[in-house]
Amino acid sequence: MRITLSFATTADGYLDDCSDRRLMISTPEDWEAVLRLRAGCDAILVGAGTLRRDNPALLLRDSEVRARRVAAGLRPDLTKVTMTRSGHLDPAWRFFTEGDADRYVFSETEINGIEGLAEVISSNGSITAAFVATELERRGIRHLLVEGGAETLRMFLDAGLADTVRRAVNPQLRLGPGKGGAQFRFEPPHGARCTEERLGGMEVLTCELHPDTADEDRRWLAEAVREGFRATPCASCYCVGAVIVLPDGRVFRGYTHETSPTHHAEQEAIAKALAAGADLHGAAIYSSMEPCSQRSSEPESCTQLILRHGFARVVFAGYEPACFVHCQGARLLREAGVEVRVYPELAHGVQEANAHLDRQTDANCVH
Ligand SMILES: NC(=O)c1ccc[n+]([C@@H]2O[C@H](COP(=O)([O-])OP(=O)(O)OC[C@H]3O[C@@H](n4cnc5c(N)ncnc54)[C@H](OP(=O)(O)O)[C@@H]3O)[C@@H](O)[C@H]2O)c1
Ligand SMILES: [Zn+2]
Repeated sequence: MRITLSFATTADGYLDDCSDRRLMISTPEDWEAVLRLRAGCDAILVGAGTLRRDNPALLLRDSEVRARRVAAGLRPDLTKVTMTRSGHLDPAWRFFTEGDADRYVFSETEINGIEGLAEVISSNGSITAAFVATELERRGIRHLLVEGGAETLRMFLDAGLADTVRRAVNPQLRLGPGKGGAQFRFEPPHGARCTEERLGGMEVLTCELHPDTADEDRRWLAEAVREGFRATPCASCYCVGAVIVLPDGRVFRGYTHETSPTHHAEQEAIAKALAAGADLHGAAIYSSMEPCSQRSSEPESCTQLILRHGFARVVFAGYEPACFVHCQGARLLREAGVEVRVYPELAHGVQEANAHLDRQTDANCVH
């Protein structure tokens, strides 16, 4: 998943003032650009604080974009997403009533009154940016736009999950002491690739915090998927392939049960790398399927192994279906600061390598 943060501030860094009315910070040209940005995403997220304060509809306005989405088999509007701890959401908010969109509410508590309006996704503990990203990705979201407010933007930025940040500052608008509401300051980190432009009187800064590595990722991942076909199908295992790429360019491969009937593909590849004396810190591991987070026949899950050896990136094609256990690999890796990328366009190869399981256990699986 790619995640873009987009917000507008006053010259003194405020997202809003403290009056009763909604403060318009963007100029019409900037607002048009934000709508174009929305058009390139699948889902839009704002915190419940923003829904409560601004009651935004979060729609696409361009009828051509909506028609293109429908032609591609999607709902006309972007998937709308919000988060709440209190559970105090009003079903009359435009978030729920306007547009033709899927809607998800991440909640720590039970919510009454929105049955049939949105799918409520609850977590066992607190809701993290990693949890939100992973659960949305499982539901097919590839590009998430986070539009605020302050707490929500900070949550994604602090978790290291923002790939692109778009900050639009209105230099003509300064609130002054005591008049500001929510505040959010973003300074580009060292090394970020940023561009600046003036747009209808706004100063727009766009920073790429994580470059798009999709082409290279897909190349290595295709190899991992091919490696999975070398595994011998069995009733209680997935046939998975893994490829490790070290910062120095060395490559190690492995597949399910390659040297032991209890070894997973990631374990096999890691064992080969260690046997060759490799330091795995900063390495990338490409696995055809989400690394497991629970093992009974081995002391450590692949997720624990990946974390212990200091991998920087994990790339996979398919989330593990909940046939045997409910895998939490992607979330745990993201929460630990590992970059996780998923390319479901390569998952057909994984399904093919695991066709034996589809036939045997499909009735027990949650896909
Ligand atoms: N200028 C802009 O571009 C822009 C864009 C958007 C918003 N804004 C402004 O930003 C202000 C709102 O910012 P804000 O920081 O107060 O609110 P926010 O980020 O929109 O929402 C905060 C709320 O989201 C929920 N939440 C946040 N983190 C959560 C988590 N980890 N788990 C579960 N729920 C979580 C909580 O909802 P509950 O309270 O329901 O528990 C929390 O109170 C408004 O004034 C709005 O106008 C400006
Ligand atoms: Zn595993």
